[in-house]
Amino acid sequence: MSSKVQRSVDIISDKIGALNPKYAVILGSGLGALTTSINDPVHIAFSELPEFPQSAVSGHKGELVAGTIEGVPLLMLSGRVHYYEHGDAGAMRPIIETFHQLGIENVILTNSAGSVREDMPPGSVMQITDHINFSGSNPLFGEETDGRFVGLSNAYDQDIMTKMRDAAKKSDVELHQGVYMWFSGPSFETPAEIKMARIFGADAVGMSTVPEVILARFFGMNAAAASIITNFAAGMTGDELSHQETKDMAPIGGANLAKILKTMFADL
Ligand code: HPA
Repeated sequence: MSSKVQRSVDIISDKIGALNPKYAVILGSGLGALTTSINDPVHIAFSELPEFPQSAVSGHKGELVAGTIEGVPLLMLSGRVHYYEHGDAGAMRPIIETFHQLGIENVILTNSAGSVREDMPPGSVMQITDHINFSGSNPLFGEETDGRFVGLSNAYDQDIMTKMRDAAKKSDVELHQGVYMWFSGPSFETPAEIKMARIFGADAVGMSTVPEVILARFFGMNAAAASIITNFAAGMTGDELSHQETKDMAPIGGANLAKILKTMFADL
């Protein structure tokens, strides 16, 4: 662990006192409002945390919020950094490592994604059951220990997935399940790439999450993830895609995802 990660761990530990969170939730574009579900929130800006990379993407705030939801202590991160920002797939490593050092055992990732499926329209919520890394990159490039050969046969934790599905049923929210395909971005896909994604077995496409899942597994934490579908993928409608659409649509599905997570935490 670098001394800077250690400093971030010390600063967060100091600010959250005896909270002892076992869950961390990473929020995707336009999902920052989920932090308002947190009781007794402690806000820590990334700028206060050495080596927490600041995302420059609009819709990402750059803060860590600690507190409880339904009595469950947790950390919520609003402001992930993406591979496409600097071409560094390991950009989230200091944050994920900090979580690990703080004793977090479960990392729940959320993102905005494009749907490849006609029956999964914008506003849908999809539990990610597996992924396809189509970026050509990996957050563990440069890692020298044998730990880099992380097994990903069960990358997404079965137990958390079941809990999430039960919570969705209980909250009367439809929860799709599917495979997420990671494209590097930042340009959106072409219609031909989306055709390929469908043939390859993807249900949704996006520009994040996969590096964090790999890092969480590398550090021995459980990972689970859900996508908010903000649009049909390229070529599926006559419309051009835009980041504005992602930001506008994310809160709609996000409200349903918030319901699922709240119910899940209440039942833990
Ligand atoms: N493609 C990639 N990333 C995305 C999309 C998309 O269609 N929608 C939201 N994030």
